[in-house]
Amino acid sequence: MTVPEIREAKTAGFCFGVSRSVEMAQKLLESETSVCSYGQLIHNADVVEELRKKGLRVISSSDEIRPGESVLIRAHGVKKSVIDALEAAGASVTDATCPKVKAIHKIVANAAAAGRTVLIIGMKNHPEVEAIRGWCGESEVLEDEEETRSFLTLHPEFSSKPTTVVVQTTQTHSNFNNCVNLIKNLCTNLQIFDTICLATFTRQNEAAELASECGAMVVIGGRHSANSVHLAQICEESCDNVQFIERAEDLDLDRLRGCSRIGLTAGASTPAWIIKEVRNKMEDVKANDTVAEELSFDEMLEETLKPIYNGEKVTGIVTGIGNTEVTVDVGTKYTGFIPTTEFTDGGAKVEDSVKVGDEIEAIVVRVNDVEGTAQLSKKRLDAAKFWDDVEAASENGTVVEGVVTEENKGGVVVTVNGVRVFVPASQTDLPREAELAQLLKKNVKLKITEVNKARKRVVGSIRRAVQEERNALRDAIWENIEIGKQYKGVVKSLTNYGAFVDIGGVDGMVHVTELTWGRIRHPSEVCKVGDEMDVYVINFDKENHKISLGAKDPDANPWQMFTDKYSVGDVAEVKIVKLMPFGAFAEVVPGVDGLIHISQLADHRIASADEAVAVGDVVNAKITAIDEEKHKISLSVRAALEPAAEAEEAPAEE
Ligand code: F3S
Repeated sequence: MTVPEIREAKTAGFCFGVSRSVEMAQKLLESETSVCSYGQLIHNADVVEELRKKGLRVISSSDEIRPGESVLIRAHGVKKSVIDALEAAGASVTDATCPKVKAIHKIVANAAAAGRTVLIIGMKNHPEVEAIRGWCGESEVLEDEEETRSFLTLHPEFSSKPTTVVVQTTQTHSNFNNCVNLIKNLCTNLQIFDTICLATFTRQNEAAELASECGAMVVIGGRHSANSVHLAQICEESCDNVQFIERAEDLDLDRLRGCSRIGLTAGASTPAWIIKEVRNKMEDVKANDTVAEELSFDEMLEETLKPIYNGEKVTGIVTGIGNTEVTVDVGTKYTGFIPTTEFTDGGAKVEDSVKVGDEIEAIVVRVNDVEGTAQLSKKRLDAAKFWDDVEAASENGTVVEGVVTEENKGGVVVTVNGVRVFVPASQTDLPREAELAQLLKKNVKLKITEVNKARKRVVGSIRRAVQEERNALRDAIWENIEIGKQYKGVVKSLTNYGAFVDIGGVDGMVHVTELTWGRIRHPSEVCKVGDEMDVYVINFDKENHKISLGAKDPDANPWQMFTDKYSVGDVAEVKIVKLMPFGAFAEVVPGVDGLIHISQLADHRIASADEAVAVGDVVNAKITAIDEEKHKISLSVRAALEPAAEAEEAPAEE
């Protein structure tokens, strides 16, 4: 049996505003003989009772004031008219309104003075919201997205009405953003103030994170405390076993047993001593679970009859592999099973991932007491572990791998160890107009660029991973490059003067004359973008990052082929390729031309070359001279026709 770990939120308990108001009350009670608060000072019955015992009365109207009494305004604040009435009744008013709430009063008062209507995102009957309405003129309270939508539909005049939006300090950002997005769509004369208290925001984020990591969550707070209610709701989004309690006696310890990790948080009006009492009670579970190592046989039998809870981590042994599920013995009366689909990502076989007899860890997803089964999920457990990895990957810039499982409007979703990572279209490494669907089912490498564990949002970039890989290859190329080194490259682009070839992270240029031994006018005659090409380094400039490449096959060197085949005196079948005033050029072998001087084109005198030959003609010509150094050849048709002719008179090509 493992010892359960208790994780307490750092932000649990009194916030600055509540703490300040309680301190002000205590000071007032020490210095004044008669003190009352207008409404309950904070939303915690125990604290209110404590203060009542020390003499703090609670009133709800200025009529209830006793002569000479000091009145304390609670942290939530009150309407301006209440303060006016209290002062008019002769009361000494001490304002303990939280400064953050006071700031909202100022915003809405200024808005009213400027003739603006105020929209408040919040709970209609909450004292903080009621008080805010008492500091402005025309106002409306919108609780959620749905109410905002119907309000705006019924009030099209808001499209041009000067409007100021504020939000109750303890609201969630998601509700605020959802409402504001709708308001933005309609209203053109808008001021928006995000007045959510940072303390609330931080507390909610921490709670969400804890809830996603724990098998059970305990949230302490008053039933009427808006921030505590929100806190419990947020925890329920990630954890199936949440207890929302007011004090230690409400805690159900049985619901915590068997959990390896239990989270604890508390609302802003929960005093430290209540948190401590709850914590102490939770420690009992820890102690009881720890001694389970010494259980007797009967106790062990009882252990197997113990319930298991949703969200709990269990360890079991695989006892069977069926078509639809893998059965797992988790050591209790429940038969655990994991759907086989959890093991078949990317077309893999279940047997490749798990076999009978394997020990396996999983999270309990659903317990069916009637059937005695418990659906388990290994993926969810892996996902929980993955959060640690993903955060580390984000911090360290590590590259992770996954499969593209979805395409949506803004990009693709890559599933990495069961966790969905969103990759925006601009980060996919595809050209802007390319179809994202081509990535579906592909294995990709990516870097994690954003992690919001509380909102279960991970963003990644395939592009950055590809770029990093290219950078590493590029550095390796520059480190090892040398003249003559050969590479397999891919043609990236063509220009009039050559082809740019990617040799694995670096582009080099193959000049048009280095593409082939034959004569070509444009690189497109021998290659196209995307072609693979064997190249070698002719020259390089590390400083300016320039590489000249060659692609000619040394085994197909035409001059070599010519000299292997022919010698002076041989007669070759040549093809006329160009006519000149002084004769004609003829191709002897592909890539090697020779000159036939005009005097050697025929066995009689001619005035111009075209009297004897035309481009494309194939004629016999005798090789009369070879200049090895300059790679020049002299040919003679006349000598081939008349072996006795003075072939040696023909000059070599100039
Ligand atoms: Fe003030 Fe924020 Fe607390 S608004 S009362 S500090 S939750």
